[in-house]
Amino acid sequence: MNLRGRSFLKESDFTPAEWLGLIELATSLKKETKEGHERQRLLGKSIGLIFEKTSTRTRCAFEVAAFQQGAHTTYLDPVSSQIGHKESVADTARVLGRFYDGIEFRGDRQADVEALAKFSGVPVFNGLTDDWHPTQMLADALTIREHTGKPFDQVVHAYLGDGRFNTGRSLLVSSAMLGMDVRIVAPVAYQPDAEAIAIARQFAQETGARITITDDVATGVAGADVISTDVWVSMGEPKEVWNQRVADLADYQVNAQVMAQTGNPDAIFMHCLPAFHDLETAVGRQVYEATGMDALEVTEEVFSSPASVVFDQAENRMHTIKAVMVAMLAGA
Ligand code: CP
Ligand code: NVA
Repeated sequence: MNLRGRSFLKESDFTPAEWLGLIELATSLKKETKEGHERQRLLGKSIGLIFEKTSTRTRCAFEVAAFQQGAHTTYLDPVSSQIGHKESVADTARVLGRFYDGIEFRGDRQADVEALAKFSGVPVFNGLTDDWHPTQMLADALTIREHTGKPFDQVVHAYLGDGRFNTGRSLLVSSAMLGMDVRIVAPVAYQPDAEAIAIARQFAQETGARITITDDVATGVAGADVISTDVWVSMGEPKEVWNQRVADLADYQVNAQVMAQTGNPDAIFMHCLPAFHDLETAVGRQVYEATGMDALEVTEEVFSSPASVVFDQAENRMHTIKAVMVAMLAGA
């Protein structure tokens, strides 16, 4: 696998073999780090981190991974650069491409991360857009392999909730690339768009993945090894959608009954985080006042159960983002 000089914009820019190769690279880099003999492959590199939306995991994963590999980062927060307000993405890209060896971008529009790659001339990494969340998918895959101990083509992966947005769409495509039995379990109005389904089906022809899109929870989760979900309201969506969203998705909450419906006592629970499992945050309290629900997409019981691997999953953001930067900037 030689991905040097490539950008990391969405899953479908890669072949299944390349996708798996990034997971293997992350596995070996994680081992190096844990064993305390990390070789620095990014010495002297500079990486720009543009965040038009807030982040905890993605930002910190890029910063720590870059530091451990010997690279320098600059963090541009949602308000303190000119990008998007006074200066176009294309002009920003032309400037930053002269300073940096690689650029991470998180924002609304997939078109912006694509333009950044086109005009900067350096590898660009998608740290989440409304359409795709590809760095998350590598972390999820690594976590699934570590916790199920199964080859990807024997894993049944069910995702409950909003299937139309970044995490749901990416999970469908990435799981298909890895040959999983993937189920998107959502009300019809929240199921992935035709484009995402077509991309997944195309990969499935090559990998043998099985794809189910259903609004029936019992059918969707039966036999699952992994139950995943995401927030019901994503960053950038207006507050006004909360009540309708909660009403529409309440039956798709991951709770003890759903975990039991898998029929698999070893089924694990995953969530990219942040999660509304308790409503102890400021936003959570507002949600509670508006809806009366004390948890949204996952109950506290499941989130805090032994089945929940969400913090291992979060740690793997760092190891997999490191693999992406090493592959694209140093070659691997
Ligand atoms: N999962 C994830 O992308 O987390 P952050 O929004 O904290 O980066
Ligand atoms: N769908 C969520 C993912 C957060 C990591 C969002 O876009 O806010």
